[in-house]
Amino acid sequence: MYTALLPIVLFLTLVLQTASRPIVYQCVPVETSVDYFDPRPNGGAMLDNAGDGYGEPLNVIVSGMSSPEVLTEDGIVNFARAIGFSEECFGLHAGAPQTANLGDGNGWVNQTIELRQDYDNAGVGTCLETLIGGNHFRVWKQNGSLADSGALFLAVSKEEPLLEHHTIIPDGYNIGRDLLVQNAVGQTSYNGVTYSTVARNITGLLAPGAVGVNHNISTDGIVTLLTVTIL
Ligand SMILES: *[C@@H]1O[C@H](CO)[C@@H](O)[C@H](O)[C@H]1NC(C)=O
Ligand SMILES: *[C@@H]1O[C@H](CO)[C@@H](O)[C@H](O)[C@H]1NC(C)=O
Ligand SMILES: *[C@@H]1O[C@H](CO)[C@@H](O)[C@H](O)[C@H]1NC(C)=O
Ligand SMILES: *[C@@H]1O[C@H](CO)[C@@H](O)[C@H](O)[C@H]1NC(C)=O
Repeated sequence: MYTALLPIVLFLTLVLQTASRPIVYQCVPVETSVDYFDPRPNGGAMLDNAGDGYGEPLNVIVSGMSSPEVLTEDGIVNFARAIGFSEECFGLHAGAPQTANLGDGNGWVNQTIELRQDYDNAGVGTCLETLIGGNHFRVWKQNGSLADSGALFLAVSKEEPLLEHHTIIPDGYNIGRDLLVQNAVGQTSYNGVTYSTVARNITGLLAPGAVGVNHNISTDGIVTLLTVTIL
């Protein structure tokens, strides 16, 4: 009398077996598929180390899901040029590099590069910026084995002129971030490369306020995530 149930029992057994079997993904080389990893669980921080006991906020992240070419040193320099920055005016930068710990197992490492705003005058523009003050940012790459997102973490700020020793203007972290993001969003290009950039704000990564922040300048705690796609 139970024979009618047999096919159902067999079917259910098959379903249960299939469900309990580990799923094996095909071994395809995967490009990074996360925007970034929160640096904090592995001992990292969202403030860098400015060398004076305080730090600058890592207030912009270039997503690991951006085009891979953007996430290299040459790539971020070209993108930075597309949005109005260039490499530092050679010889005029006196400050020491800062370090950051992105919780990727690499520990506290020097910034990869530091870029300053270009006043539309290649070569001289950055020197001008150094003298009159402007927007600038430092870059670190999250690429250690514990958190290999490939994302770039940027410490962005707007500075006082050189005569005032490159200190940050009041509210200079929020202002610097917003200026950079405004220039970046949408379509930009430099040297034959065209970028499409979208922005999203993240809260809960960086603590709002001024605790531990260099120059005691308070921030709103917003980190802007940029996803940069080469068209
Ligand atoms: C970091 O920068 C400092 C100052 O320029 C330098 O002395 C040090 O060797 C650098 N560290 C690494 C690991 O490159
Ligand atoms: C991580 O990125 C930095 C900066 O581009 C580079 O110097 C370093 O070799 C990279 N490390 C790994 C493990 O790829
Ligand atoms: C992110 O936050 C800043 C500061 O509040 C704001 O000006 C900007 O419009 C926000 N951007 C997005 C994409 O939400
Ligand atoms: C930072 O500023 C706040 C108020 O603006 C002040 O109470 C505090 O003492 C300052 N801290 C330092 C280290 O200067």
